[in-house]
Amino acid sequence: MTVVSVRDVAERAGVSVGTVSNVMNHPEKVSAATVARVRSAIDDLGFIRNDAARQLRDGRSKTIGLIVLDVRNPFFTDIARGAEDQAAAAGLTVTLGNSDENTDRESTYLDLFEQQRVHGVLISPYADITQRLLRLRKRGIPAVLVDRTSTDLSVSSVSVDDIAGGRLAVEHLIAQGRRRIAYIGGPMEIRQVADRLEGARHAVAVNPDVTLDVIPIDALSVIAGRAAGAEILTRPAAQRPDAIFAANDLVAMGVLQALMMQGHGMLVPEQIALIGYDDIDFASAAVVPLSSIRQPSALIGQTAVEILLDEAADPTIEARQVVFQPELVVRASTRR
Ligand code: RIB
Repeated sequence: MTVVSVRDVAERAGVSVGTVSNVMNHPEKVSAATVARVRSAIDDLGFIRNDAARQLRDGRSKTIGLIVLDVRNPFFTDIARGAEDQAAAAGLTVTLGNSDENTDRESTYLDLFEQQRVHGVLISPYADITQRLLRLRKRGIPAVLVDRTSTDLSVSSVSVDDIAGGRLAVEHLIAQGRRRIAYIGGPMEIRQVADRLEGARHAVAVNPDVTLDVIPIDALSVIAGRAAGAEILTRPAAQRPDAIFAANDLVAMGVLQALMMQGHGMLVPEQIALIGYDDIDFASAAVVPLSSIRQPSALIGQTAVEILLDEAADPTIEARQVVFQPELVVRASTRR
């Protein structure tokens, strides 16, 4: 299939290439008869304009690249929605990449967005990628961390205080009378997961009669949560926790599925309380509505785009780290 060029359209319509460009971008500058002739040539030849090439010539694409850790996680869908609403208001689009908690895939998307000279990059990274983001910015592409608080003040970020969130979750379980608490979370390379555990430890540290058992998982997924829940059921009753803090709602949903297994499960919350993190829509719709720590996910996405646009407009602007506070949402899965 031959690619139709602007020159082909110009020849077919009997006008210059500049006139074809004006018909596409500034039709008010061209006579109605010429506009009609050029548009007829475009339709006849099946010409499709190459915005990417034009935007590269302009030096900046009208697309924002967003890289999320797990596209299956509704938390990131909400972030993407907030980012897209803010981008659309500025006449930009968002291209979504899923790193799947894999650093190679994350790097592939960063390379792709750099080659495409995107307007900017939003990323929820697996580990620390500060140096890579600083290199991007040196090449004229601003980047903002989402769902991760930047440790380097020269990189902007929009996140929630995950240490406060972890503490809030465990303080709630303790207030509900639970004393043998398990944290199901991992990989710990994801700093949000480690911070939530740190917050949990702060809450336990001031309650000597409370124990905290860490059950590591290799992914923040329903499957990993289900496996962890099944492992708890293999334990003798006296070695089982009386409460679980799951690193996010997907993990909590998997744990709930395992604990509710017919025949040899555990009653939630009667025998074991369960709290997640994010407060995704499915949390309230779970078979036992899930208590969770709410993140303002859409607002995180919107705010990240606002910061990104400011930095794209003025590369000298100072980086900002916006940290929202988490909110406890109590539902049936932890109620007394
Ligand atoms: O980004 C790591 C985790 O933090 C995600 O799974 C999401 O749930 C957020 O809470």
